[in-house]
Amino acid sequence: QSLKKYNTFGIEASAKEFIAIENESELATVLKENQNKKLFVLAGGSNMLLTKDIDALVIHINNKGINIIDENDDYVWVKGNAGEVWHEFVMWCIDQNFGGIENLSLIPGNVGATPVQNIGAYGVEIKDTFVSCEAMEIVTQKIRTFSKEDCQFGYRESIFKGELKNQYIILSVTFKLNKKNHKTNTSYGAIDLELEKMGIQNPSIKDVSNAVIAIRQSKLPNPKELGNSGSFFKNPIVPIETYNKAKINYPEMPHYPVSNTQVKVPAGWLIEQAGFKGKRFGDAGIHTKQALVLVNYGNATGSEIWAVAQNIQKTIKEKFGIEIEAEVNVI
Ligand code: EPU
Repeated sequence: QSLKKYNTFGIEASAKEFIAIENESELATVLKENQNKKLFVLAGGSNMLLTKDIDALVIHINNKGINIIDENDDYVWVKGNAGEVWHEFVMWCIDQNFGGIENLSLIPGNVGATPVQNIGAYGVEIKDTFVSCEAMEIVTQKIRTFSKEDCQFGYRESIFKGELKNQYIILSVTFKLNKKNHKTNTSYGAIDLELEKMGIQNPSIKDVSNAVIAIRQSKLPNPKELGNSGSFFKNPIVPIETYNKAKINYPEMPHYPVSNTQVKVPAGWLIEQAGFKGKRFGDAGIHTKQALVLVNYGNATGSEIWAVAQNIQKTIKEKFGIEIEAEVNVI
């Protein structure tokens, strides 16, 4: 089975065996019957780079459904099943006038993957509205509910990438959203400017979503047209001393405070300064409009893209003394 259409990088790789599951009981059965096999869980495939064929049983999580599980005058608790496409879930919530995730419009991937790396954009992260998620333990097929605290969310981090990596399969995620008095968050990025351009003064959540979509479309390639996995690297969080040292040669380096001792530096800026923006090495390249995004112009292999990524890491380390780490899962 080819995995090309199951990964947004559009990498040609094959799975030894492949099964799509539509609900929890199917998943439990598959896990029980294949206990002695190597397993590989595939959700939206929007945050991984396949550098080889998968010598395992690939389980594609495809359980659909969106349900309101509770509400009061002000809030609503919405549960999305893991296989729902994230952007469609966001659009559904906006259509019901449920606010809180509009800044996360157009992020590729499925609902089930959102807690794994605490997806975020334009000043909002999933953890801000996350209530809980249900996940099945692979070994026992027991379903466990994880609270926000249990998930140990950090910047593009959670327990599912750390301590519990490859141990649970997320089945659904519940968010607490606003039914009224929406507090839109437009200070981050260029949302304010975009809304101004659109001639909007008191933006609704739909307006904010439209602005985010416009900004993303202007910078980020559509995976359907140009294979990619969003930001390939995380923005590095470095000790202030490291930043101060780099600042001597690069006084204009942007940075955002993280704590008293650390700052975050935009990796896209570092990559652009290192001359990689828009470069192409065969079919692997660095996006012309956002240097943090690596792209597949057609037939790049995962190894070719990974080689470009490593070249970027090495150059950034030499030039700025800063290490940048992949955000995508390199398989
Ligand atoms: N920059 C450059 N050159 C570039 C790209 C960026 O100089 O080619 C500079 C910009 O000048 C800007 C700064 O870097 O000052 C930040 O750029 P941008 O606002 O585009 O965001 P980012 O830090 O590159 C992060 C997230 C994105 C998210 C945006 C918007 C990470 C790893 N990435 O990117 O998330 O959409 O902020 O909030 O934190 C993703 O995770 O896949 C993703 C797309």
